[in-house]
Amino acid sequence: MSRVPPPLALMAELTHRCPLQCPYCSNPLEMLKAGQERDTAFWLGLIDEAAALGVLQIHFSGGEPTLRADLPRLIAHASVAGLYANLITSAVLLDEAKLRALANAGLGHVQISLQGADPENADRIGNYKGGHNKKLAIARLVPELDMSLTINAVVHRQNLHELPEMIDLALSLGADRLEIAHVQYHGWALRNRAALMPTRAQFEAANTLVEARRAELGARMRIDYVVPDYYADAPKTCMGGWGQKLLNVAPDGRVLPCHAAETIPGLVFDRAGEKPLREIWETGAAFETFRGTAWMQEPCASCALKEQDWGGCRCQALAITGNAAATDPVCALSPRHAEMNAMAAMEAEAGVEDFIYRRI
Ligand code: SF4
Ligand code: FES
Repeated sequence: MSRVPPPLALMAELTHRCPLQCPYCSNPLEMLKAGQERDTAFWLGLIDEAAALGVLQIHFSGGEPTLRADLPRLIAHASVAGLYANLITSAVLLDEAKLRALANAGLGHVQISLQGADPENADRIGNYKGGHNKKLAIARLVPELDMSLTINAVVHRQNLHELPEMIDLALSLGADRLEIAHVQYHGWALRNRAALMPTRAQFEAANTLVEARRAELGARMRIDYVVPDYYADAPKTCMGGWGQKLLNVAPDGRVLPCHAAETIPGLVFDRAGEKPLREIWETGAAFETFRGTAWMQEPCASCALKEQDWGGCRCQALAITGNAAATDPVCALSPRHAEMNAMAAMEAEAGVEDFIYRRI
């Protein structure tokens, strides 16, 4: 029997191309061009390997996955292979016929990101004119086509004042679930941190609002809430623990333990197609480096919670401390925690407004 349980889900990043230019995109600063993307046969083979490995869900993501003309075929293949297919999309390139084709191919769930509730501000954040209203039109169709709808509301200093309206909007669109996620500072978001960082007052107001709306809405719409790391005291269990629940396949076929793993120097990533996916997952060097607890330093190494949060986020530890094996500075026990809180407050108060937009 295998020592490593199978992953629950596979994130298939089909492309880095995207018509939007969100300043908090989690894609790497050095994005891959269309010519570096893997072809249909590669993704079909990967889906078969994932199903054989025991993966239950596949998330088609990007960039913007609907830019790939083979998306309906990939969804149909995943569906036949027994994988639950989810599409993570900006929705601006979809129309009713395209969405219907994806539903007919077996798509079960659609996650649509909103940049805000005010069309003008939302279009400014995504740097795509008319995008907000296109998203709303597509989102409304998702439940009509018998698919589950999640609205991803990514929040930060420049749209948190719209959070009450964003919750109402998700409800009016017929969402089963609303994910309110404060920006996670990887990729382009790290570059735009000063323009995105909320103030502590905004953070506290958002917490109170979410709690109240959750109590009010109950089962009508589930609200998941990702707090802003820089103001939290306990780290999130990033990726469900490194190499434990999820794997990420980049557009060029590299298999990553998380979407930001390539920021960590020295990690070696295997390519799907060159080695069996099972071997990459179970024994690949990048997965083994931070799997479990053997790599931990103090205070994590002797902490009672080390098998609950698995030491937090490796990419964040690297970004803040310069050491990917350090305790995530979100943790109140990290020697860098107070410094991280102070930096957040200072950046939020500085009031930078201009974004560096994501561009290939
Ligand atoms: Fe988690 Fe490490 Fe903090 Fe303990 S010391 S709570 S394991 S991050
Ligand atoms: Fe890489 Fe958290 S984003 S471990």
